[in-house]
Amino acid sequence: MSLAKIRIVGGVPLHGQIRISGAKNAALPLMAACLLTDQKLTLTNVPKLSDIQSMTLLLDQHGVQIDTEQDRFELWAKDITNTVAPYDLVRKMRASILVLGPLVARTGQAKVSLPGGCSIGTRPVDIHINGLRQLGAHIDLTEGYIHAQAPQGLTGADITMPLISVTATENLMMAATLARGKTRLINAAREPEIIDLANCLNAMGAQITGAGTDTITIQGVEGLHSAQHCVVADRIETGTYAMAAVITGGELELTHTSVDLIAQVAGTLKQAGASLEATEQGLRVRAPTIPIQGVDIMTEPYPGFATDLQAQIMAVMSVCQGASMITETIFENRFMHVPELCRMGAHITVHNASALVRGVKSLSGAEVMATDLRASVCLVLAGLAAQGETIVNRVYHLDRGYENLEQKLGACGAMIERIAA
Ligand code: UD1
Repeated sequence: MSLAKIRIVGGVPLHGQIRISGAKNAALPLMAACLLTDQKLTLTNVPKLSDIQSMTLLLDQHGVQIDTEQDRFELWAKDITNTVAPYDLVRKMRASILVLGPLVARTGQAKVSLPGGCSIGTRPVDIHINGLRQLGAHIDLTEGYIHAQAPQGLTGADITMPLISVTATENLMMAATLARGKTRLINAAREPEIIDLANCLNAMGAQITGAGTDTITIQGVEGLHSAQHCVVADRIETGTYAMAAVITGGELELTHTSVDLIAQVAGTLKQAGASLEATEQGLRVRAPTIPIQGVDIMTEPYPGFATDLQAQIMAVMSVCQGASMITETIFENRFMHVPELCRMGAHITVHNASALVRGVKSLSGAEVMATDLRASVCLVLAGLAAQGETIVNRVYHLDRGYENLEQKLGACGAMIERIAA
């Protein structure tokens, strides 16, 4: 685990172009999808991130042959030699649960560690488990592991999910591709990453309709085959850099992405006074010429405001004119960035699931740290706008989800560097 730090000298408006990478949260389920077939799955536009490395290690120990060349991954699950996903790999990355559905569907069995605690609150996996049970899998929870068995294969069913869950929708959609008969996932998540996964599975021979709506229908097929797929752009990275332009008073063009992926966030930033417009390659974001205006925000499942951008928008709102009420409805305990922002001069109070942000004129640099990925990047945004020097500790969180962060920001004028601990 890297103990490196990021050092930022703030106050420079960002100008230039940033290439947005493929989405981490699309690439992870797409990689797991390779387990559904004994033929090769080729993915392009895969971001270089430590979470992708974690998924590579996990798949490798299931017997998947993986060849990579830059952003191109060839994944070949010719023979699955091991159906156990061990604790020390799953613990590092909750998205490891995504191998559960494909393993059971393809081999009739899987043993996947329960993910356990997480710094952003309790995140159970009951929806994954109950959904697989409805598809006919027999599941026991013992010794910290999910033991799933379906020796006769899975059978399609109507599954109504009690809560909207992104990875549960993905897990069940993947499992259902090889089930006998038809499955309907009702109250499904609608994220662009779900659509991307469905497109790839369909290219592999699956029969999925309705991805991107709240009801997904999957007609099971005998087997899947090889395919090539380009990972959709990362909308969280897109939103983060859009906010970097706004908070520093700059102007950025974000390429290889689309304003449609961040419609809700674009609306919020426009209300705050910024301008966003589609360009041929992506979108252009210009900071307001007047002070940033306070806007109220509530996180919601897609197409609502993404919880993965809540910390970042709080950094922006901390220097607004007026105030902003930010309400987190997806995860409990996702305000760990608040005390760190306050140490940089922000004025924020938390009442249950809402944070009241009273805008201040400017932030001041400080040594800070965060306990998760999005909270860490929120401190980078704050540091870019702050007066003086900011040191962000625990850079390994950033490396989980932001490819070449310092290079991308540095090329646009930011004074940012990685320093050894
Ligand atoms: C995914 C994203 C993550 C994002 C989150 C919400 C990936 C790899 N990760 O995580 O970055 O923050 O969506 O947009 O795509 N829940 C249950 N039982 C379950 C599953 C979920 O109660 O079995 C609850 C969770 O605790 C949470 C809510 O449902 O309160 C939504 O979580 P979910 O959509 O499942 O998040 P992830 O898929 O883990």
